[in-house]
Amino acid sequence: MDRWVGKVAVVTGASAGIGAAIAEALVKEGLLVVGFARRQVKLEVLAKSFHGLKGKFYVKQCDVSNEEDLVAAFNWVKTELGGIDVLVNNAGVINSRKFLDDDIPSLRNMLNVNFVATAIGTQEAVASMRSRKVPGHIININSVAGHVTPPVPMAISAYCSTKYAVTALTETVRKELAAANAEIKITSLSPGFVATEILQKASYDATVLERFRHVPHLEPKDISDAVVYVLGTPQNVQITELTIRPLNETIFAREYSPVRNRQIVMIRIKHAIRTWRTLELKTNGAYSKDTNITLKNTTAFYQQIKIINDQKLTGFLVLNKTTTDSEQSQSRSNKCFTEIEKNRDQRTNPRRSMDRWIGKVAVVTGASSGIGAAVTEALVRKGLLVVGIARRVERLEKLSASLDGAKGKFYPRKCDVGKESDLLSAFEWVKTELGGIDILVNNAGVVKHCKVMDDNIDSYRNMVNVNFMATVIGMHEAVASMQHRKVSGHIVNVNSVLGHSIADLPMPVSVYPSTKYAITALSEVTRKELAADNVRIKVTSVSPGFVSTEIFETGGLSDTEKLFQRTPHLQPKDVADAIVYVLGTPENVQISELTIRPVCEMI
Ligand SMILES: NC(=O)c1ccc[n+]([C@@H]2O[C@H](COP(=O)([O-])OP(=O)(O)OC[C@H]3O[C@@H](n4cnc5c(N)ncnc54)[C@H](OP(=O)(O)O)[C@@H]3O)[C@@H](O)[C@H]2O)c1
Repeated sequence: MDRWVGKVAVVTGASAGIGAAIAEALVKEGLLVVGFARRQVKLEVLAKSFHGLKGKFYVKQCDVSNEEDLVAAFNWVKTELGGIDVLVNNAGVINSRKFLDDDIPSLRNMLNVNFVATAIGTQEAVASMRSRKVPGHIININSVAGHVTPPVPMAISAYCSTKYAVTALTETVRKELAAANAEIKITSLSPGFVATEILQKASYDATVLERFRHVPHLEPKDISDAVVYVLGTPQNVQITELTIRPLNETIFAREYSPVRNRQIVMIRIKHAIRTWRTLELKTNGAYSKDTNITLKNTTAFYQQIKIINDQKLTGFLVLNKTTTDSEQSQSRSNKCFTEIEKNRDQRTNPRRSMDRWIGKVAVVTGASSGIGAAVTEALVRKGLLVVGIARRVERLEKLSASLDGAKGKFYPRKCDVGKESDLLSAFEWVKTELGGIDILVNNAGVVKHCKVMDDNIDSYRNMVNVNFMATVIGMHEAVASMQHRKVSGHIVNVNSVLGHSIADLPMPVSVYPSTKYAITALSEVTRKELAADNVRIKVTSVSPGFVSTEIFETGGLSDTEKLFQRTPHLQPKDVADAIVYVLGTPENVQISELTIRPVCEMI
């Protein structure tokens, strides 16, 4: 982050929640941060609390939904501080009505705050960066709601629509900047549910708010950590999408599933029984009328769970220190929540670190070259026991020699991941010799540079087997190993930008994008299944743009040197660093998608 020290950052919606956490993180990193928000008093309190940190915090009262106000605030930054180097478009509102019940002024406000202010801010920031010829960075705090609408309609009005607009805007601006060869980065950062004031402000009723307290969620600090990571990437590396969710996210998944709720409650039961004298199990009216049941022991609790399941109710647990008296119940519950929140704060500290992986077993496929070799090196240097698998064992031996004396250990294994028997015996070896797998990096991949219809069946089969089938089999083996040993594991699938959109490439790539789309689907389906079963295994899709590796030459492209010279590209280490970042996030934080490209990538 050193290159940002003394630079100017604007954070909109800085008075609370994610914006306040981002402002604090950036001031700590030494930036001059201007916080925009309506509540001046809140901003001033923050300014006081940042006193003595490396950077500086400037308060700018501004209603971002008011164009004049917003433009005046940007003009103030220009006049007083010279211009903008970093813009974090964070201000956002949500609303507790169904879209069809919402009124026009309310819709307009949501659109103005969530989208129009982001668009105006982006224009202002790009103009400022270009006129001063500085390589700036714009981060749009998007949402998972900018990529998918909830399966069961939630009352969030047009929130998803405004965030989808942010997704489209971010991609449009990225491509325009690339076409203009402007070294300005733009990132869409899409959090799942984060515990902030946004829901209270949206006027949800108490039952809904209470339910939200009990679903897995992130802390604002998790998002500010991610912001610091994307800002800290090297000058030519651009994280274009970072989707960050609580592990086992239930919102936007099976929030209303009674099975899922039983699981949430059951995890808490052991701790609850130890800590509290009575339990109050509340079910809410999603499918039935409200019910409150006070329980004094686990047997009663399990009986009640059965009833809840049979009646298809949804439920959550309220912990009380004394036998519940209905009049005092609410205040006691609140007190309990405060204590739960305190514990939660401790749980999420310390934050990013690879320490918990020291001595753990990682398997990296395709470790003999490119991204796989770089990931292997990074993990061995971080102290892991890394099994690197590939066909070219002599390459693996060479890598092994170069890692002599590193903190961890490297185990080279010859294996053709396209052959099921070979792959299964490699996993069997890991189980017998090292006890099991904690991390799996599914990286081995091949491409063929010819048109789909000019390719042949053996080539299709090879791409499907290496890129997709080996990933499915690997995930199957890794999850079995992690579940059997009850460990919190992590699976990273090395995907591609071609797994998300079909680009006009300068060369044909046969069925390669199809195999990568399959990885996108596989990663998401597995993530959701693991979340529904409350399994503490993370799944991350890492999707690189163009990286200078052997894959193109192996795929039949000639003169790859020329291609690298004329095309912006990443180095394998850039992708390895991103994988280290996702592995190092706190246990409850899951990066479900990280898209990484060279700055100015045209596709
Ligand atoms: N380079 C890019 O621009 C780019 C962009 C997006 C995504 N990716 C993805 O990144 C991953 C790594 O690619 P890379 O660019 O680092 O390519 P690379 O330098 O060619 O490395 C590919 C690796 O996969 C291994 N591999 C291929 N077929 C295998 C098989 N049948 N059995 C075992 N290992 C096999 C190779 O090992 P052996 O040949 O020794 O077996 C090699 O270690 C791939 O999934 C690729 O799709 C690359």
